[in-house]
Amino acid sequence: MENKVLYSAVQPSGNLTIGNYAGAIRNWVALQNGYDCFFAMADMHAITVKQEPALLRRRTLELVSLYLACGIDPEKCTLYVQSQVPQHAELTWVLNSIAYVGEMERMTQFKDKSRKHADNINMGLMDYPVLMAADILLYQTDLVPVGADQKQHLEIARDLASRFNNRYGETFRVPEPYIMKEGAKICSLQEPDKKMSKSDENPNASVFLSDDRDTIIRKFKRAVTDSGNEICASEEKKGVTNLLTIYATFKGCTVSEAEKEFEGKGYGDFKLAVGEVVADALAPIQAEQQRLLADKGYVSSVLKAGQERAFKAARKTLSKVYRKVGFYQGD
Ligand code: TYM
Repeated sequence: MENKVLYSAVQPSGNLTIGNYAGAIRNWVALQNGYDCFFAMADMHAITVKQEPALLRRRTLELVSLYLACGIDPEKCTLYVQSQVPQHAELTWVLNSIAYVGEMERMTQFKDKSRKHADNINMGLMDYPVLMAADILLYQTDLVPVGADQKQHLEIARDLASRFNNRYGETFRVPEPYIMKEGAKICSLQEPDKKMSKSDENPNASVFLSDDRDTIIRKFKRAVTDSGNEICASEEKKGVTNLLTIYATFKGCTVSEAEKEFEGKGYGDFKLAVGEVVADALAPIQAEQQRLLADKGYVSSVLKAGQERAFKAARKTLSKVYRKVGFYQGD
């Protein structure tokens, strides 16, 4: 029997945060053995907000190196750059004709980014979820591991798959989201009711995967905690809950185990312990990423093999789609 297909991607649009790691990449490593995995650098998504071209190219290579350093095995998984597989753009165009403007305008991320980039509300920004659906559907994906913020986009991908299948006959597998309970939403260290983001203007709000030990510990020391002095997770204690979640994800324990560990301790010790656990977990990943970045030949060979595999799989689905919608494909 064929393995199930797992698909996910990250935009190479900034320094990745521990949120990207906890909500996405970390889970991929655990899942890669049971599935046929495709992991992309979503550079086409990234240009929906302004990017510095040379930096985008560099970040794409940093991202592949990071995937590898985190333990993604290129023998088991297909690692590739989205823009190197033209079928993503081609399927997006077809799906655009069954996607409604109204449903795109309702997307939370579109609304947020429109507010944040009011001088650049471009068509790509609105079409972002359709491109994401194309990514997923091209590979006949069963499972999509993402953080909680992507749930709405996955619903769109599912809707578009079913809508297409109803209109043209069975073509796409309808994908399922896979959102881990712990780590699905890591929040800002400064405003713990907001998600931690690559593009936060406050330098103390996000911990980057590239931060050194001192920076990590300093950021956690400055993290906002709540009134009172009890270290327990609750709706009213968003700051402490976020820190407990981060501790648990990086330590590999549950939040309630973490609560027990810090019973009776003060905020100062707690924040230092969270910083240390994160710094300890990131140190070997950072070292391996640097080693890989220096090995350009290896990284580009991984991407070349990935492109070939992704292209083949994507071409198969796209030619089926073109046939279904009635595009002439030669006699
Ligand atoms: P991106 O690059 O914004 O985020 C990459 C992944 O990181 C997760 N994530 C978080 N998880 C927990 N806490 C946070 N604070 C946090 N911030 C980000 C995101 O949920 C995501 O899983 N649009 C996608 C990229 C994409 C994609 C796809 C994903 C393009 N095509 C196809 C899956 C399938 C995105 O959010 O990228």
